Amino acid sequence: MLAHQFITLCRDAIIAPSMTDDQDARGGRSGSLLTGLPLGEWDGADQNAGNVLILDEREAMARVILNRVSKAFGDVYAVRDLDLEVYDGEFLVLVGPSGSGKSTVLRLVAGLEEPTTGEIFIGDRLVNNLAPKDRDVAMVFQSYALYPHMNVHDNLAHPLQLRRVPKAEMEERVRKVAELLSISHLLQRRPKELSGGERQRVALGRAIVRNPAVYLMDEPLSNLDVKLRIRTRAELIKIHERLRTTTIYVTHDQQEAMTLGDRIGVLNNGTLLQLGRPETLYNHPTNLFVAGFIGSPSMNLLEAQLVARDDRLLVEGKGFSIQVPPELASLIDRYAGRDVVLGIRPEHIFDREEVAEAPPGASFTAQIDLIEPLGSETLVHALVGGQAITAKVSPDTELRRSHIAELVVDTRHLHLFDRETQRAITR
Ligand SMILES: Nc1ncnc2c1ncn2[C@@H]1O[C@H](COP(=O)(O)OP(=O)(O)OP(=O)(O)O)[C@@H](O)[C@H]1O
Ligand SMILES: [Mg+2]
Repeated sequence: MLAHQFITLCRDAIIAPSMTDDQDARGGRSGSLLTGLPLGEWDGADQNAGNVLILDEREAMARVILNRVSKAFGDVYAVRDLDLEVYDGEFLVLVGPSGSGKSTVLRLVAGLEEPTTGEIFIGDRLVNNLAPKDRDVAMVFQSYALYPHMNVHDNLAHPLQLRRVPKAEMEERVRKVAELLSISHLLQRRPKELSGGERQRVALGRAIVRNPAVYLMDEPLSNLDVKLRIRTRAELIKIHERLRTTTIYVTHDQQEAMTLGDRIGVLNNGTLLQLGRPETLYNHPTNLFVAGFIGSPSMNLLEAQLVARDDRLLVEGKGFSIQVPPELASLIDRYAGRDVVLGIRPEHIFDREEVAEAPPGASFTAQIDLIEPLGSETLVHALVGGQAITAKVSPDTELRRSHIAELVVDTRHLHLFDRETQRAITR
C-alpha cells in the first residue's frame, strides 16, 4: 500500500473524540516522537496509530500566520505591519541586523510579548489571547539556559515532567532525542561538564523532546565556534528533514540563513523587506538593503546614472561606463536619466586576462588596493573612480597590489536600483 493511502486510512480511523487542542491531549501522540522515517519509507505494518496522527495533525495544525502584526515599546516599533505565513513543515529563517526585530517576532509567536496590533494564528487558532504554555510551541532562546544542578537526562526530561508525561514514555523520548543529537553518552553529566557545543545541543534537545507543533529558535548556534556551528547546522538540517516540524529560526548570519532556510525573510528596522527562497533573494533582491545584506562578500554597490546614448543604455559613474545588455535595456529604458545604484556581485567581476573575449562596454579600469588569497579563490579589492569594489577571482590571478588593471563585468548579472526609492529596477 502506498504510504499516503495508509496515512489517509489511519487518519479516518483514529481521530478520537477525546483529542482536543489541549496541550496534554497533544501529548497523546507523543509516544511516536522521532520516527525518523520520511513519508516515502513508511511501512504500514509496523506503525502504530500515533505515528500517523502526528503526520496528520501537522498537516492541518502547524501553519503560523502573522496578520499585520506590530509591536511597539513606547514609541519604538520593534515590529511593524508584519504579514507573514510560515507554511506547515517549513523551515523559515528570519535574518537581519541587530535590533531589527527578529527576537521580538519569535517572542510574539511564543506569547511572551503581546502584539500592539494584528493577529497571530498557529494552525487555525487565533492565539493572541492564548498563554504561551497553551500554544504548543517550543522556543530555544538566544541565551539558552540549562538547569545547572540537573544532569543532561533530567534537563531533557524536565519539560515532559511538567506536562505529566508517563515515565516510560518520557524515558523513551529522552533516549530518542539524545540519540538524534548524538548526546546519549552525556546523559549523566551536568551542564558545567559539557563543552559549549554540547550544551547547545542539550538546549535544542529540550525543545525537540516536547514534540511541539512549532519550533522557535533564536540564534541557537551563536555561541559555537565556526567549525561546530557548521556541523550543528548540518545536524539541524537533517533533524528537520526527519521531523518536518514547522520552524522559525532567527539569525543575523546571512550565510546561516542561506544554508538552512526553505525560505528567508529579511528584516530591518522591524519591517520585512523581502521574503523568498534563498536563491531568489540572492539573484533577485528587490531592494538595496537585501542586495547588500545577502551574500558574502557583499554585492558591490556603485553610485551611477542611467544614460541613453546612441541607441544604447549605459550605467555611468565616476571611472566606469557599462552597457546594459540590449534585452534588459529595452525593458528599463524609461528609467534613463535616473540616479541609480549599480549592483555587481564579486563573482561577476573578472580579471581581463582570464576572459577570452570581453563584450563592448563591459570593462573598466581599477586600481588594485589589496589581494586577499583565500585558498580556493582570491578576493581582489580595488578602487574605481574612488569607489571601492571587490572581485572574486581565480587563485592563479596575476593581479598585484597597486596594479592598474582592466576588469570585466558579466553584464547578464547587473543589478540596478533606484537611488531614491532604494527599490530594484526590474524588467
Ligand atoms: N522589552 C523591550 N523594551 C523596549 N525596547 C525593546 C524591548 N525588546 C526589544 N526592544 C527594542 O526592539 C527592537 C528590536 O529588538 P529585538 O530584540 O527584536 O532585535 P533582534 O533583531 O533580535 O536583535 P539581536 O540580533 O541583537 O538579537 C530593538 O530596537 C530593541 O531595542
Ligand atoms: Mg535577538
